Amino acid sequence: MDGFHRSRHDRLCLFALFISLQCAPVLAVTQPAPALDKTTFINQLLDQMTPEEKIGQLRQRFASSAMPEPEVLQSIAAGKTGAMFGMAPRPVIRALQDAAVKQSRLKIPLFFGYDVIHGHRTIFPINLALASSWDMDAIAVSGRIAAKEASADGLDMTFAPMVDISRDPRWGRISEGFGEDTYLVSRIAGVMTKAFQGEAPSAPGSIMACVKHFALYGAVEGGRDYNSTDMSPVRMYQDYLPPYRAAIDAGAGSMMVALTTVNGVPATANDWLLQDLLRKDWGFKGLTLSDHGAVAELIEHGVARDGRQAAKAAIKAGIDMSMSDTFYGQELPGLLLSGEVSRQEIDNAVRQVLVAKYDMGLFADPYRRIGSANDDPIDSHAESRLHRAQAREVARKTLVLLKNSNDTLPLKKQGTIALVGPLAKNPVDILGSWHASGQPSQSVTVYDGLASALHNKATLLYARGANIIEDKTSIDKLADGNVEIDPRPATQMLEQALDVARQADVVVAVLGESRGMTHEAASRTNLSLPGRQSELLAALKATGKPLVLVLMNGRPLSIGKEHDLADAVLETWFSGTEGGNAIADVLLGDYNPSGKLPITFPRSVGQIPTYYNHLNTGRPLTPGASAIYTSQYFDLPHSPLYPFGYGLSYTDFSLSDITLSTQRLSADNTLEASIKVKNTGTRDGETVVQLYIQDVSASISRPVKELKDFQKIMLKAGEERTLHFTVDEHDLKFYNSRLQYAAEPGEFNLQIGLDSQNVKQQRFEWQ
Ligand code: NOJ
Repeated sequence: MDGFHRSRHDRLCLFALFISLQCAPVLAVTQPAPALDKTTFINQLLDQMTPEEKIGQLRQRFASSAMPEPEVLQSIAAGKTGAMFGMAPRPVIRALQDAAVKQSRLKIPLFFGYDVIHGHRTIFPINLALASSWDMDAIAVSGRIAAKEASADGLDMTFAPMVDISRDPRWGRISEGFGEDTYLVSRIAGVMTKAFQGEAPSAPGSIMACVKHFALYGAVEGGRDYNSTDMSPVRMYQDYLPPYRAAIDAGAGSMMVALTTVNGVPATANDWLLQDLLRKDWGFKGLTLSDHGAVAELIEHGVARDGRQAAKAAIKAGIDMSMSDTFYGQELPGLLLSGEVSRQEIDNAVRQVLVAKYDMGLFADPYRRIGSANDDPIDSHAESRLHRAQAREVARKTLVLLKNSNDTLPLKKQGTIALVGPLAKNPVDILGSWHASGQPSQSVTVYDGLASALHNKATLLYARGANIIEDKTSIDKLADGNVEIDPRPATQMLEQALDVARQADVVVAVLGESRGMTHEAASRTNLSLPGRQSELLAALKATGKPLVLVLMNGRPLSIGKEHDLADAVLETWFSGTEGGNAIADVLLGDYNPSGKLPITFPRSVGQIPTYYNHLNTGRPLTPGASAIYTSQYFDLPHSPLYPFGYGLSYTDFSLSDITLSTQRLSADNTLEASIKVKNTGTRDGETVVQLYIQDVSASISRPVKELKDFQKIMLKAGEERTLHFTVDEHDLKFYNSRLQYAAEPGEFNLQIGLDSQNVKQQRFEWQ
């Protein structure tokens, strides 16, 4: 047999078993063998596996972009590796898969995972930005395209969605999540999971979602990455756990376990978390994956003396697969032999890996996403592989107008515009952290976007003005310290910026953070604009020209001073490959902004946490009453800089009072809350109408309000529409001190507003 026919023969052998199982109805005509279901197929496979082969399936190794080292291929061929992660070109992935499928004894395919967090080749806005759209269709588009592009590159799984609730902007990873609110994040968790997985993780253009980081990673103390999490059970169940559950309910095939501790026990060794809660209470049937090297980190956490104890603790707790593994491979064989880890425990974990592979369609065709060498793209970065139109459309929806005095925006397409700032012409940072396979050479900067929109209509001047940050000691501590530094003296850059500002009719300053500043291991103690950017803004203001601040950042910033200086402020987050076009669309009025903040902006880092759905306390600060002996900081106003749900438009909206269909809700009926929304301005525009509920008196203290529903609507100039929201018992339920989930009779406030603070209110009763 020649090589081609031999490999084909090998593959046919592997498929013979699978096809007899999966395609039985088709083959039944010629093959009367009864159809075997997934469980039987996997049980049969498990029966054939040696202990070493089983343990091999529990290990995930890093795939670099270079052709694999012989050692890696040998490990796969020997059945000692079950999956790979990282981004490698298709020929590399194919070589790795060949080693598994053509050389290993049982020919069990590998799967390939990667951090496809907000787009793969086409980079969409960061997740905090996607949440700002409050637009589930737009979010679904971003996830679907990411899955399509990732699967076309041979990837089977994304380590997303990241659904960790975080209320602490010091935490760099807040940019990766969808904000502070349980309801909004849970909705998005479901949408993203379904978008990645499509009809099924095996469907064309689909990949498996790996929800992360289970659990409570976003609540690390002090916002310091990898720090401990300690939380009351009520808060955990009520606020932090629901998004993970929502992703599971949407069918997520796998779950990544947090690197951190949950009330003293590292999640990686936490059998309560992984078994009692995840498997037994929630019925999760998918694969649990440790985070990168987390099994080994159990030693640093101080719950394992050595690798042997670490591997034992993790497998017993319920970690099926170990990412970047050392100790599963090294220690599980001995632990199995000594009986400290049972065959049953190993089999349970292996079964989950095999189920995930089955569900990803890999037994049916290990090359379903890798394709054949003939079909490999000649240029994997080819423009034709991007989805620019969709990226621009989505990005426009994520921009949040925070201030617009004197109708400074939109800008006129005439005269002279001075574009200033270290992020204005920066193709790297606009992609945000976790930019997967996105190429800076393909990103549209704000400069590019404005230049193409203004072509022949207005003059665009540019000056950098300042660096994002100059403190080398800080940059050196970043995992992604790729910060472009202009070596010119600060005064020279500033002078140049002032020079262009003086020549212009309006100044647009694009300021913020580098993408690496809101990333893993990138926590800040300070939430102001870094470097000399604030000084730059103040100097630009002193020219007397109308001043627009365009923010590019991955976390809420304390920019009270800058808010006062600027005439208009537009939050653009990191808006991805088409960010510059989307930002130009909004700045020039070709698109009317409708984004709303998914997270509160504090006035100062000392105010944290500032989440809107806090408890009232026994001594709340009451507007109009004395502040003495109330719960407040005396040196700052009590309110946040910008509240949750806030965002302006180029038009105005008004809300009528709320009408309730009934004042008494019970288990047998529903309540309809109606409100008229009117576009009172002169432009068509979208807004997000938000419904909040407060349980006025209950067995435990309940938040001052909680988001329960919202509708994003488009109204033509002058148009009025009546919106109806349905409220039922489910919206009133909460976890009481015994963790029973129930609604308690009593009074409730129902609020509707265009942000979380400025609301209309009605009261009803539940009995
Ligand atoms: C560590 C991060 O915590 C996790 O989110 C990511 O998926 C893995 N590294 C793999 O890159």
